Amino acid sequence: MAELLSFANVSAGYGRIEALSEVSLSVAAGGITALLGANGAGKTTVLNTICGLVAARKGEIRFDGKRIDGLASERVVSLGISQVPEGREVFHQMSVQENLLLGAHQRNEADGIARDIEVMCGYFPILKQRYRQMAGTLSGGEQQMLLIARALMARPRLLLLDEPSLGLSPLLVQQVFETIVRLHREEELTLLIVEQNAAIALEVAQYAYILENGEVAAHGTPDDLSANDAVASAYLGM
Ligand SMILES: Nc1ncnc2c1ncn2[C@@H]1O[C@H](COP(=O)(O)OP(=O)(O)O)[C@@H](O)[C@H]1O
Ligand SMILES: [Mg+2]
Repeated sequence: MAELLSFANVSAGYGRIEALSEVSLSVAAGGITALLGANGAGKTTVLNTICGLVAARKGEIRFDGKRIDGLASERVVSLGISQVPEGREVFHQMSVQENLLLGAHQRNEADGIARDIEVMCGYFPILKQRYRQMAGTLSGGEQQMLLIARALMARPRLLLLDEPSLGLSPLLVQQVFETIVRLHREEELTLLIVEQNAAIALEVAQYAYILENGEVAAHGTPDDLSANDAVASAYLGM
């Protein structure tokens, strides 16, 4: 598969803290790539560096072959990368509809936006049922679905999801991931999914990277990683 995003020998951090040191990873076009690792490993920093929210101090980031490191985050979004940040909240005092429209604020074709709202309500029927309700009244799982739908309203080619399973019941995790897989198949969406829940991420991904202390500790297909006893016991809780 062709590469949509490449992250090559990237180092990044906060002040004197080096959170990533020479991390390399590749996101295949049309695929689901997982980024796993314990708390503090640097997963969120990878996503924030892709989005231009944290500066790369070293290395190169390319999207569709073009350098994007050094670009402002708005510019990165306009190139077709959307992020659903970790634990990010919906706008509580706005309706579901208004939250979805905010996701499309960089677009200016009303017809296309209306059509995409219909498409999102098809994938996430609960959003249609709660369309005019304040988003703050939704449950945690419903808010996670709204966040994903809102990010998709920007019509990204690459969606970055930061711990979509966090705080959800096992049943809701299953539902959210089933919808993610449908979106990937039917909308030809490329995904990079950060998870601490390695089991669910490896169920849906075609390729995975494991980060430890800001470095890539292992990478491979889910089958290869699970079959490697050292990797499975150290990082996958198997
Ligand atoms: N805003 C920040 N300021 C200082 N250090 C940070 C900041 N954000 C993250 N870090 C540090 O960078 C490292 C990687 O964090 P992060 O990317 O959030 O890890 P993960 O998402 O894998 O839990 C950790 O040591 C964390 O404490
Ligand atoms: Mg994180």
